[in-house]
Amino acid sequence: MKILLFGASGQVGRACRDALKQPGWDLTALSRKRADFSCPEQVTACVQRSRPDVVVNAAAFTDVEGAEKTPDMASMVNGECVGSLAAICAAMDIPVIHLSTDFVFNGQGSRAYREDDPVNPINSYGASKLKGERLLRAVHPRYICLRTSWVFSGRPGNFLTTMLRVGAQRTTVSVVGDQVGCPTYAGDIAATIAELVQRYEEFGDLPWGLYHCSSPEPCSRYEFARHIFAEAEEAGLLDPAPWVKKISSYQFPTLAARPAYSALDSSKLTEALGHPLPHWNRGIRQVCQALANRAVPSESPTLLN
Ligand SMILES: NC(=O)c1ccc[n+]([C@@H]2O[C@H](COP(=O)([O-])OP(=O)(O)OC[C@H]3O[C@@H](n4cnc5c(N)ncnc54)[C@H](OP(=O)(O)O)[C@@H]3O)[C@@H](O)[C@H]2O)c1
Repeated sequence: MKILLFGASGQVGRACRDALKQPGWDLTALSRKRADFSCPEQVTACVQRSRPDVVVNAAAFTDVEGAEKTPDMASMVNGECVGSLAAICAAMDIPVIHLSTDFVFNGQGSRAYREDDPVNPINSYGASKLKGERLLRAVHPRYICLRTSWVFSGRPGNFLTTMLRVGAQRTTVSVVGDQVGCPTYAGDIAATIAELVQRYEEFGDLPWGLYHCSSPEPCSRYEFARHIFAEAEEAGLLDPAPWVKKISSYQFPTLAARPAYSALDSSKLTEALGHPLPHWNRGIRQVCQALANRAVPSESPTLLN
């Protein structure tokens, strides 16, 4: 099984590099340096050169604030180029596993979003990702699009590592309590992708389409932070952990609006796989323990800086 992975240096990309390293699988993992999604011809050429059995796309313009400043670039990377990738893969009959986001929803819902709920992004990042979803669906019948949310890992720059960094510097950390979603460990997303590739190899087919792919049990950012600090203290990363103060979103203004409620209902994927993703608490524990042992696979050695 020949797999071509884009976005190989991101959180999910790195986790995929580990999860897709399996006997009999030939993985080509490309980062932005070799496949820049602001240049669709380059990405198309990579597919033509590699001739893989399956493409996994973990590349994305994920800077939510930055997308407000450069919406055209976000749209190119997350939208138009995904369309070009889908078109070449459709022409070469190569299935695509792609990732999208809970930010396609406006956050006004009161129950976890299902795949067929109406979309209405409230920021440029969400709009650009929705464009990518639509272009993929329009040109390629054999795709899996996994919408995930609140992704964390041991890599710098995500919510968990930011909390650890800030928590090491302060006795009190303020975190918004009025944004609710489903945290999801990058390693669990990668394991899901590996499982899908495995099935495709075995059966030559997959239940193509759109899936929500998040850990069960929504929580607020405040609750997420409290769990992170509890696990970090337990693992000996913080001694003591800071006090977490619950604040409102209006006390933490950002350029990009965030959906207030963006929990995803992943039961369609649970049914397809025969099991849910693990609870996010397990991922937090894994990351904290790995950081304490300085043993996060494929990760920077300066994780807490
Ligand atoms: N992070 C989240 O909370 C979250 C939530 C919902 C959905 N998702 C989705 O999950 C997927 C994986 O995200 P992630 O968390 O792994 O994000 P990430 O850590 O930011 O990784 C994204 C990767 O895309 C690469 N990239 C950015 N611009 C590019 C370009 N012009 N050409 C090629 N590659 C480019 C980045 O390269 P560099 O390393 O060079 O910057 C990075 O390696 C994305 O589709 C994202 O939209 C993420």
